[in-house]
Amino acid sequence: MANVLVGVTGGIAAYKAPGVIRRLREAGHEVRVAATDAAFRFIPEETLAIAAGGDVHTEKTWWERSGRVEHVTLARWADLVLVAPATADAMARAAVGLGDDLLSATVLAGARSVLWAPAMNPEMWSNPATRRNAETLKGWGHRFVGPSEGLMASTEEQPGVGRLTDEAEILAAVKEALSGDGG
Ligand SMILES: Cc1cc2nc3c(=O)[nH]c(=O)nc-3n(C[C@H](O)[C@H](O)[C@H](O)COP(=O)(O)O)c2cc1C
Repeated sequence: MANVLVGVTGGIAAYKAPGVIRRLREAGHEVRVAATDAAFRFIPEETLAIAAGGDVHTEKTWWERSGRVEHVTLARWADLVLVAPATADAMARAAVGLGDDLLSATVLAGARSVLWAPAMNPEMWSNPATRRNAETLKGWGHRFVGPSEGLMASTEEQPGVGRLTDEAEILAAVKEALSGDGG
């Protein structure tokens, strides 16, 4: 089993992250969680900590005067960084090499393997900027699972592509990423 860092970013689907975290732990993985400030607009830190069975890595822990360089230790610790849900913004930051938050800095600091599970409204997903960012990341060997087609949590009445892929599919993609298949 592997060390999996789950990055939770600030989209509506962040409320689904605890389910993904629990499934990863049930599968026997060591799981740590890093959440952006925006993620906490959608999911309480306590809920993520309970799902993780331990502390959540945050902007606050990153800047603690502890002598730790959290983005480097996390990048080295993780066999896989799974960003679920992944915002368009987080993908954009990674695609231009920004490291101005803990999760982006961890990806930048040499994360060995990165799997993005995007979730956003269909127009954001089909936007040329998001398309280009996803292609850039894929070109560097990053993997993607989803998004799926369906009704959005927001006000859309028509189904579109942008939903966070279901837990089972994310778990299957994690397994594939860790085995190095199909990248
Ligand atoms: C109500 C609301 C819902 C949002 N939902 C999403 C979403 O589902 N997907 C997305 O990519 N961005 C969404 N955003 C925009 C992100 O929260 C915003 O880009 C933020 O800067 C992302 O920060 P992060 O990537 O550091 O977590 C939403 C914003 C608001 C206010």
